[in-house]
This record gives sequence, structure tokens and C-alpha cells, in this order.
Amino acid sequence: MHDYKIRIYHEGKVDFYGYGSDSKAQAEIPGDYILSKMPVFYNPVMKLNRDIAVYTVRTYQILTKKSLRICEPLTGCGVRGIRLAMEVNGADSIIINDINPMAYDIANRNVEMHNLRDKIQVFNEDANLLLSKNAFPMKRFDVIDIDPFGSPAPFLDSALRAISKNNGLLCLTATDMAPLCGVHTNACIRKYGGVPLRTTYCHEIAVRLLISCSVLTASKRDIALAPILSHSTDHYIRVYLKTISGAKNADEMVKQIGYLVHCNHCHFRQLKPGIANSLSSVCPSCGDDARIAGPLWCGKIQSREFIAQVLENSKADGDKRAIRLLSLILEEADAPATYYDLHSICDQLNLPCPALEKIIHPLKEKGYSVTQTHFKNNSIRTNAPVSEILKTIRKAQ
Ligand SMILES: C[S@@+](CC[C@H](N)C(=O)[O-])C[C@H]1O[C@@H](n2cnc3c(N)ncnc32)[C@H](O)[C@@H]1O
Ligand SMILES: [Zn+2]
Repeated sequence: MHDYKIRIYHEGKVDFYGYGSDSKAQAEIPGDYILSKMPVFYNPVMKLNRDIAVYTVRTYQILTKKSLRICEPLTGCGVRGIRLAMEVNGADSIIINDINPMAYDIANRNVEMHNLRDKIQVFNEDANLLLSKNAFPMKRFDVIDIDPFGSPAPFLDSALRAISKNNGLLCLTATDMAPLCGVHTNACIRKYGGVPLRTTYCHEIAVRLLISCSVLTASKRDIALAPILSHSTDHYIRVYLKTISGAKNADEMVKQIGYLVHCNHCHFRQLKPGIANSLSSVCPSCGDDARIAGPLWCGKIQSREFIAQVLENSKADGDKRAIRLLSLILEEADAPATYYDLHSICDQLNLPCPALEKIIHPLKEKGYSVTQTHFKNNSIRTNAPVSEILKTIRKAQ
């Protein structure tokens, strides 16, 4: 039935058992779960995702000073939960869970290996069922980490029932980039309730669609969700959101959901907060057809203060790639929404792309703010108008 070989891996501060195959079996019915066909998932490519999760939860614990109750309802072999137990002080009570009995078995072995029975409980249930069983006041979790194959959307509602209404930390991974980046528009509308757009900055749009869907789901329970850290890496996006209780606070978040107006012809883009918004499909800049994405999150996707603390708390043992990523995110944390992909602009102009510095420096000299972005190489966030960017590109030839 399985051709997977059990192996010992090492990541962060832990050794653990996993299955040494990267192949992913396909469900016969799309969206269904075929137990016998699924490998016990360990994906080394997601190490960076887990590294950042460890440093973020560590920071959250330092800031809240809580004894944390954590849930990872889609745990695979359990490495994330085990790393949290071993690498975060105050991660005192952790539930890890997987619907696959093989994953449950291997996660148990990993808990045994590290003598973590007093801290970690392992379950073999459907994630939504497990979360729902923990949805009443004294049982709710401080931190919930949803790290699925594909979209976290099917787990959002139960996660928001099971998380602390105030000062909880919701961590979400989405790997379904084809829907979120506008390759499968209907799937995106179905999962996230928003229209995506195939643009050069579609990964930021993806983050904004995921945040908007989460904020709206939370608002039904009078919980406000505030994004404090977002990143797009390899084949996935990841967002961290803090809960704040109260209908008025939730209203304030919902007000930041709206639309993006984008023009392919002249690179114009504008975020328009407000779900009930009147939108024109004519580009206000060049009069060409504009395209509309959303509803999506129009507010900030990063908290500079929080990310600065995450960086500080990862210095001692932080992975170099994670630190580099966090440093880039810190730099762009307060920069304008959406970025300009210089390669693609130059392609459109039929010009070779100059070195990044040859664009950044002159724009800064003129008094504009300019930063690079972790979302994409050769791309900038700036408050300079498109006309200035084009002028600078032409001058740099
Ligand atoms: C991407 S893997 C998890 C990886 C893990 N979080 C990590 O960091 O290594 C997704 C896991 O979700 C499990 N899963 C899928 N549907 C589930 C469900 N409805 N309830 C619980 N677990 C589920 C799969 O068996 C798989 O192990
Ligand atoms: Zn235009």
C-alpha cells in the first residue's frame, strides 16, 4: 500500500520521525480525503514556515506572558507542535491532531521520543470536530495554527470558535496559489469570497484575499482580527492575525475590506476600502479598461512593532533564511500597498531592466520613499507615481 520509508529528520532543535517521500497522493474525489492514500506528511520545504511560526509564537508569548494553550489540528507527523513545545518557553499545553491514523501514530512516537506527554496531547479526529469540541470559554486556545494541504478556508469557522476571543493568535497557511493568484477564479470566489487578479503582484492580492475572508468569518462572532505578520514564500502564503473581542472592533476591521482597481495598460492601482463601494471599470489614469479584485483586505498586512520583536527574539538561534526574510518584511512593513515589478514594466517598454539601485537611488533623491519587497525580486514599493517610475527606468538605460 505505501512505499514510504520511515526516517529520522532534524529541524530547529528537534529530531523526529517522518516519512521520506515528498510525493502527494491525489484524492479520487476532488476535495475528499483518502486515508489509505495519504503519506504521513513531512515537507522539508516548509521548514521556513515552521521557523517563522516558532519565532512568532515565542514573541507572542513574551508579549502576553501567558502560559499558552496551543492547537495544531492538521499536524502531519507533529513536527510543528513538537518544535513549539521545545523552542517556545510557556508553550505549556499543546494539542496536535491529524485525521490520518498513520500521522497520529507517528506524531505519538515523536511525542514519546521527546518525553513530552505532560505538554502534548495527540488526537486522531477531523480538525473541525476537534476545534468545535474546544469552542467553549475555558477551553479555547491562545494559538491555533492551521497548516493544511491547500486552503485553510474550510477550517476558519471552527478555528474562530475555538480561539480566545481576545489576544489570541491565529496562524494560517494557504498553498492553493492557483485560485488565489487568479488562475482558477471560481475556486477563489468559492473559498475566499473574493475575485482574484492575475497581476505581477498577485501574491500580495492573495494575502489580502485570505485576510479579508478571515476577518469576515471572525466578525460574525464579534471578533476583530488584526494582521500582524504576512509572508509569501515558495509556493504558499502565511498570515498571522491577532484577535480583539467586541462588535465595534470587528466593525473597524470590516471597514478595511474593499476592492482593488488595477489597470494592465498603465500599471495604475488603487485600494478602495468599503464593501459597499461604487466602482468604475474605467482606469482613472489612462481611460483603458480597469480590472477589479475583491472584496479583499485594504488595510495594513504587517505590524512593524511586532515584526521588530520577532526579529529580536529570533536572533539567538534564528535560521539565517528566516532572519533575512523577517528583515526584508520589516523594511517594507509601513511601505505603500502593492509593488511594481520592474522586470515586467521593462518588458512592456521593450527595454532591458536596469540594476535595482539605478531606480531606487534616483527616486529616493527626488524625495520618494522606496523599499524592496520580500514578495518578489526586482520589485519596489514606492509612493512615486507610475510616471516617475517610467521616467527613471528610461533615464537609467
Ligand atoms: C500540510 S500537512 C500538515 C503539515 C504540518 N502542519 C507541518 O507543519 O509539518 C496537512 C495534514 O492535514 C491532515 N488533514 C487533512 N484533512 C484533515 C482533516 N479534515 N482533519 C484533520 N487532519 C486533516 C493530513 O493528513 C495532513 O497530514
Ligand atoms: Zn490605466
